Amino acid sequence: QEAHAAELERTFIAIKPDGVQRGLIAEVISRFERKGFKLVAIKIVVPSKDFAQKHYHDLKERPFFNGLCDFLSSGPVVAMVWEGEGVIRYGRKLIGATDPQKSEPGTIRGDLAVIVGRNIIHGSDGPETAKDEIALWFKPEELVKYTSNAEKWIY
Ligand code: PPS
Repeated sequence: QEAHAAELERTFIAIKPDGVQRGLIAEVISRFERKGFKLVAIKIVVPSKDFAQKHYHDLKERPFFNGLCDFLSSGPVVAMVWEGEGVIRYGRKLIGATDPQKSEPGTIRGDLAVIVGRNIIHGSDGPETAKDEIALWFKPEELVKYTSNAEKWIY
């Protein structure tokens, strides 16, 4: 059990202000939890505009950058780190396509959202961004190491 804990991949997942305001925190967590991924860090915060700009720094040139940063900093966000084999890529599958009009039914955005500017959830898009986003949102000591009994049946 201890042996695989160290190797498992991690991703940063955030429930954005629309998801929090709409009461979808448990719904989102439940989908990751039931899949078999493990929650290793969680907190609720209202990010500053400056912090939102750091989080979305890759999108600085986009026309929607300012609006997106205003939106992220408009209210409470649930910031999380999820761990498990393939969690970065599969987490994106659970989330669904960026534009909720294009995300498949069965995905979080496909089932629960309608427009791209209000798409409930963010997930890191690759190993590098996962590492950077986890470091931006969490101190190392906020990540919890633990073994769940369920893991031995899943991994
Ligand atoms: S892209 O084009 O591939 O870079 O875009 P993508 O990676 O899919 O999206 C990056 C984030 O920008 C958000 N986004 C938007 N917000 C507001 N308006 C428009 N038109 C828009 N297009 C993309 C999108 O939801 C992504 O945010 P996160 O929080 O990462 O999901």
